[in-house]
Amino acid sequence: MLLGAGYDSRAYHFAAELRGRTTFEVDHPATAERKARLVQRQRRRLPDARVTRVTIDFQRQSLEERLVAEGFRRAPTFWVWEGVAPYLSRAAVKATLATIRALSAPGSDLAMDFWFLLDAPDALATAVRMSSQLLSLLGEPVTFALDPEDAPDFLRRAGFVTVDVALPADLEARYVRDGRRIYPADYLTHARTRAAGGRRR
Ligand SMILES: C[S@@+](CC[C@H](N)C(=O)[O-])C[C@H]1O[C@@H](n2cnc3c(N)ncnc32)[C@H](O)[C@@H]1O
Repeated sequence: MLLGAGYDSRAYHFAAELRGRTTFEVDHPATAERKARLVQRQRRRLPDARVTRVTIDFQRQSLEERLVAEGFRRAPTFWVWEGVAPYLSRAAVKATLATIRALSAPGSDLAMDFWFLLDAPDALATAVRMSSQLLSLLGEPVTFALDPEDAPDFLRRAGFVTVDVALPADLEARYVRDGRRIYPADYLTHARTRAAGGRRR
């Protein structure tokens, strides 16, 4: 399940591993329609993949209603929600996490990234703080941030157990082999749904 799928092409990259399982690509209609056209143009070069496209505006529509309408049923699911939460309101992030929780059968995983405010006074941190402000001028205001320290608690309140919080340096050490840098105010979390009736603190 790719929430805010954008041009993520994992459904095609991992077509063999997915062995015919459906990838739901959930996105804003404008992006989803452009991607559908691009995929159609590249059809002969792409492996067969079972992709169900679901259009939504996360700020206004119910994820559960949209998924159920497109045939999704509660099942063990790998939810990927990357590059979207920073652009939503806190209420929309929490509502989407509640839906993910409700639609997740045991054995489900969530990979989700967050942005946070770099608090160092140096030039690099200042530039990063300004860059997120500049996105407003491009019509993409950054409206939600969460410090990595607070992520496990935030996710716990939403019904998840955090397995991992990977900071930019962790991600670079694990995955980057060509010297590129991860955006310094972005980090990735891996969480699992907490068993129903699990202890709440
Ligand atoms: C920065 S891209 C991330 C794409 C992809 N997940 C990735 O990591 O490469 C943000 C995506 O979120 C989607 N998005 C942003 N706001 C949205 C909203 N209110 N409702 C639905 N999708 C939204 C955009 O259409 C876009 O595909």
